[in-house]
Amino acid sequence: MSRLEQIADLEKRFLLPTYNRYPVAFERGRGVFLYDFDGKKYLDFVAGLGVNALGHAHPRIVKAIREQAAKLVHISNLYYNEYQGRLAERLCQLSGLDRAFFSNSGTEAMEGAIKLARLAAHRAGGAAKSQPVALQGSYHGRTFGAMSLTGQEKYRKGFEPMLEEVTFVPQNDVEGLRAAVNANTCAIVLEPIFGEGGILECSEDFLRACRTLADQHQAALIFDEIQCGLGRTGKFFAFQSFGVMPDIVTIAKPIAAGVPLGAFLAKEHFASAISPGQHGTTFGGGPLACRVGLEYLAIVEDEKLLDNVIRVGGHLHQQLQELVAKYAATREVRGRGFIQGLVLDVPARPFVEQGLAAGVLFNVTQDTVLRFLPPFLLQEKHVDKGIKVLKKLLGKKRGKASRAMAEASS
Ligand SMILES: Cc1ncc(COP(=O)(O)O)c(C=O)c1O
Repeated sequence: MSRLEQIADLEKRFLLPTYNRYPVAFERGRGVFLYDFDGKKYLDFVAGLGVNALGHAHPRIVKAIREQAAKLVHISNLYYNEYQGRLAERLCQLSGLDRAFFSNSGTEAMEGAIKLARLAAHRAGGAAKSQPVALQGSYHGRTFGAMSLTGQEKYRKGFEPMLEEVTFVPQNDVEGLRAAVNANTCAIVLEPIFGEGGILECSEDFLRACRTLADQHQAALIFDEIQCGLGRTGKFFAFQSFGVMPDIVTIAKPIAAGVPLGAFLAKEHFASAISPGQHGTTFGGGPLACRVGLEYLAIVEDEKLLDNVIRVGGHLHQQLQELVAKYAATREVRGRGFIQGLVLDVPARPFVEQGLAAGVLFNVTQDTVLRFLPPFLLQEKHVDKGIKVLKKLLGKKRGKASRAMAEASS
């Protein structure tokens, strides 16, 4: 049995069958590359689903983990550690929000955010002010609260009833939003760019309407930036790219470079609704995760990685658009920076499998969208390598008429 077969066989016998893994096991990584147990090298456009923004084994992250692991990993939230307040301060400075709460994952950050919004809403409008408005096609996580806010049937099916009545509105439907938000709304919850939903951006008009309606009805405007935040759009926060400020923002994925950590940040008006004992976590905000979080933010700044995201993200966008102009199986390019999607007319999983064989990691969401969430270290030459492989896999080129149509619509 190969090493991969041994690993897969053991999992098959002892794990819940929740994951449909690709046939590869990785042993190590360096920068934008991963290596399997046979030493085969893979170019990584997935970054652990948006987590490894600094690639793999970044020397400063390795050093911070080593040093902190030898000093203190965990103490619980009964006591102070020297990094939690510092990371909260830095995130507040970068976001313009006032206070933070640290969790262990994105889903938990969403749970905390909605709990906080409800407390503030009850304070403002009594017990009936409890209903969230969320978007069709959204994704916010797998626990009951986050799943109840997720506007995709496939994630909720089999687990009903959901926790509460959430009203779902189509993305960018301002009229639908106006009809849905009322005095009983506690929060408007949305991802500025849908991630799992297929890399779909909210329009600035829609986000502005959300801001206005939230203000009118004293509801919290909650942005889930778990996938699109912390640099992926070329700004530290995606809302800074769209020019609309939320009341609460959730973050996770890259914040501690692979050490589990999530957070929600809130304006004082909302943060002041919570008191000691109303929310908490054993692990969240530990000294190891928070120290690595500070190092993550420092590295992004020191290495000017947001500039890189904008420059190389622009190159990626342009290269993907050229594919759309030329290849029959492609439809459109969505997103910006290092959160982009190439929409295909055919199922994308075979492309991911063939990419794997060719030594490039692609990802698929919504069956037909090839999703790119690469490390912020990615260079133009890496994009070109990925595009070269994609060209081979896409095969059939467009005829003249179809090429003109694709060019006109891009
Ligand atoms: C937008 C968004 N919200 C929430 C989550 C849930 O985060 P986690 O898987 O860390 O619990 C994800 C994860 O992909 C996400 O993309």
